[in-house]
Amino acid sequence: MMASPIRCLVSAGPTREFFDPVRFLSNPSSGKMGYSLARQAAAKGWEVELVSGPVSLPDPPGIVVTRVTTGEEMHAAIGERFDGCDVLIMTAAIMDYRPRRVAGHKIKKFELQMSIEMEPVIDVLATVARRKKDQLIVGFAAETDHLDDYARRKLEVKNADFIVANRIGGPDSAFGRESNTVWVYSHHGPVRKIGPSSKLSIARDLLDLFQACLPAGCRSSSTD
Ligand code: CTP
Repeated sequence: MMASPIRCLVSAGPTREFFDPVRFLSNPSSGKMGYSLARQAAAKGWEVELVSGPVSLPDPPGIVVTRVTTGEEMHAAIGERFDGCDVLIMTAAIMDYRPRRVAGHKIKKFELQMSIEMEPVIDVLATVARRKKDQLIVGFAAETDHLDDYARRKLEVKNADFIVANRIGGPDSAFGRESNTVWVYSHHGPVRKIGPSSKLSIARDLLDLFQACLPAGCRSSSTD
């Protein structure tokens, strides 16, 4: 009898938070790490769904892609799909804050205020992780400094099984690059450094690591 494939939900790319119809706050995430993971997971025979913020990458072949713009839309899309997945991989660089008010018209130069009042955006990963049953949950962390401390804290605060930490800024900076170096934190063992290598190769190594930690029934269902 054919076992059912591992169901993998991946989020990728940035989110945008608008403060008028033509202007928004965002970050330079390219989506490449998330798209590489989605492609590699599909290549392993996993059933992959990708929820993507605005990026310039085409839909990977054979993968169902849902496009979202804001953090709230990302939360709705991930929340709807979470219960049906075996692995959640959150590479999305979700904006933590959004403007409290969104103007209904393009703000003119003469009326532009020098400050924008902000409010928090829901933490998608921490929120869905509270409903965790058997899912393996993977978060990503982008840090300019204190990478080790912050990554360990995120492992706890986000109820994640893995935190994959990237350095932003400096020679190891991940945003927009083809290659990367990551440090993998988990409850299962010591910190592992992967790279520097291509995001595709890092994706392959990460998925092998995640697969080894899936419940036995799930793990044996892979086609490779
Ligand atoms: N994340 C999320 N919802 C948010 C912000 C982040 O689900 N509103 C997820 C990201 O997809 C990532 C992980 O949480 O997997 C860590 O994101 P990061 O931006 O590094 O951490 P934050 O929780 O935003 O903390 P800080 O900005 O203080 O580093």
